[in-house]
Amino acid sequence: MPLTRLVIQQFRNIQACDIDLSSGFNFLIGPNGSGKTSVLEAIYLLGHGRSFKSSITGRVIKNECQELFVHGRFLNPDQFELPIGINKQRDGSTEVKIGGQSGQKLAQLAQVLPLQLIHPEGFDLLTDGPKQRRAFIDWGVFHSEPAFFEAWGRFKRLNKQRNALLKTATVYRELSYWDQELARLAEQIDGWRRVYVEQISEVAQTLCGEFLPEFEIGLKYYRGWEKDTPYQDILANNFERDQHLGYTFSGPNKADLKIKVNGTPVEDVLSRGQLKLMVCALRVAQGQHLTDLTGKQCIYLIDDFASELDSQRRKRLADCLKSTGAQVFVSSITKSQVADMIESNSKMFHVEHGTIGQG
Ligand SMILES: Nc1ncnc2c1ncn2[C@@H]1O[C@H](COP(=O)(O)OP(=O)(O)OP(=O)(O)O)[C@@H](O)[C@H]1O
Ligand SMILES: [Mg+2]
Repeated sequence: MPLTRLVIQQFRNIQACDIDLSSGFNFLIGPNGSGKTSVLEAIYLLGHGRSFKSSITGRVIKNECQELFVHGRFLNPDQFELPIGINKQRDGSTEVKIGGQSGQKLAQLAQVLPLQLIHPEGFDLLTDGPKQRRAFIDWGVFHSEPAFFEAWGRFKRLNKQRNALLKTATVYRELSYWDQELARLAEQIDGWRRVYVEQISEVAQTLCGEFLPEFEIGLKYYRGWEKDTPYQDILANNFERDQHLGYTFSGPNKADLKIKVNGTPVEDVLSRGQLKLMVCALRVAQGQHLTDLTGKQCIYLIDDFASELDSQRRKRLADCLKSTGAQVFVSSITKSQVADMIESNSKMFHVEHGTIGQG
């Protein structure tokens, strides 16, 4: 579902930008600090309702301005163009409009604009704690299982209530009623995640084979509690431990995706460039799987394309992205670093002091 037009106002160092986009590759070329990442950040905000760099809205709004706007037009699956827009104020209030209707939810933005971001700090998917990897799984489940968003939100609310109850309860009986619903949701979420990881593993293995043929990748899903025990039993059996800790120790909020190459954790084996390739393979695998399953195309945002990749690997990634037919935004300091990727329908944008010009 490509964007055909992008309007950015009062975002970081960009006062105003209005550009027509290619449904293929869009290149953002410019020196350090010119605003390339900011354009990607604005598109990300349009698809997620938040920045990938800062959780504080005030830092994203242009200095001395009160609000920011990001608008666009996207092609829906019936090839109709629809407007989409987000406005954020310094007080944190947010307004989302899709197809001319205001008051839309952020989750609807994500439905309409599935995005994959590949950026220099993106290694944390492989090297940090499980939070990023859970988000990776949940991106896929969100787009493939319509009931997931609501169920996960409800699980998190109930889990919070349980943690509060743990502080006052004297016997497990006081929690058992609430735990039934919590357990039902946990099992449901676990089932969806398990199926997703099984499906994505196959695509990821094929892509990793192309990017890193010297390694055999293995993805293993951990659901957040012991394998053969129903979640309801975990909650009941661990009541005293949970009470002592003051929170529920095991559960789907502890789920993880263990990623290994040749049987060893990735961070112990791969170089930085190889880690970047692995992240690219995993993200492209998600996009491909989404298209296979739902017919939806996701948009790729690739920040600082050249960093850590040699020209051969850059070409491999570019070819892979081309074969997906998706819309891609690529930032780079020089044009020569992306020369191999330019096609007849590509668009090139020059970024300088927050001004974005086509040329
Ligand atoms: N709220 C803000 N208001 C105005 N300017 C800002 C704000 N936040 C950041 N900036 C400035 O906007 C610019 C944003 O740069 P951005 O990160 O988009 O650059 P870039 O082209 O990606 O550079 P690099 O090649 O170094 O990654 C920086 O010069 C930064 O100082
Ligand atoms: Mg940048």
